[in-house]
Amino acid sequence: MSDYKISIDELRCQFDMDVERFSNEQTGQTSAVDAQLVLSIFETFIAKMYPDAQRLLDIGCGAGNFSLRITRKLPQLKLTLLDLSQPMLQKAKERLLAENFNIEEIIQTDIAKAKLPDAKFDIVVAAASLHHLRTRQDWKNVFGQIYRSLIPHGSFWMSDLIRHENETIEILQKERYAEYLHNLKDQSYQKQIFESIDRSDTPETLQFIISTLADIGFVQIDIIHKNNVFAALAAVK
Ligand SMILES: C[S@@+](CC[C@H](N)C(=O)[O-])C[C@H]1O[C@@H](n2cnc3c(N)ncnc32)[C@H](O)[C@@H]1O
Repeated sequence: MSDYKISIDELRCQFDMDVERFSNEQTGQTSAVDAQLVLSIFETFIAKMYPDAQRLLDIGCGAGNFSLRITRKLPQLKLTLLDLSQPMLQKAKERLLAENFNIEEIIQTDIAKAKLPDAKFDIVVAAASLHHLRTRQDWKNVFGQIYRSLIPHGSFWMSDLIRHENETIEILQKERYAEYLHNLKDQSYQKQIFESIDRSDTPETLQFIISTLADIGFVQIDIIHKNNVFAALAAVK
């Protein structure tokens, strides 16, 4: 394991060249365990719980899989797409406009530096994007921004790579993840994904994520899915 993590500019270049991998809304990002299931849980739960939602912010929207799936169920949504990568935003825009969905704003920025509007969104989604934040202070700031940007009783939906508090459990879970990737494709793919995690990702523990959300003021914080090194949560303002 190396300690070196790529810079935000290197991360942006990496995603600029990887748009197709995030453009299949049926499978989602297959390198994430249960990506397809989480897409389905988010679209179903959000549509059932917030049928009258007006505005959704998708942080690290990539090519728009989550926005597409959720907006098909709630076509009245006005979307704000935020991502580091312009080619990702362009692809998301094309796919959403092809179905005549309403994009209110497109923001190309590093979420760690973003100043989100006050009390604007009914729903904020961040799927497989926050594990790129480098420091715990960044996580706290971003959760604070998300909280502020939600309307009262609005909700935050997050799905991401996580790590475990217990080092042995983390090692064992990584072994299971290696097996998953190997079965998905082959050993060189597994090595490629592990090297990418080493270089690019700084996942957090569920304990840290939940306690930080609670400190900020979120309530009804629930783990809605957890499998191996991936978890999905929802929290209410
Ligand atoms: C793994 S992809 C996931 C895309 C999409 N949410 C999905 O699940 O299909 C991560 C996305 O987050 C974006 N991203 C990574 N770090 C970011 C940051 N600091 N600020 C904004 N976007 C970021 C990347 O450009 C990329 O499009």
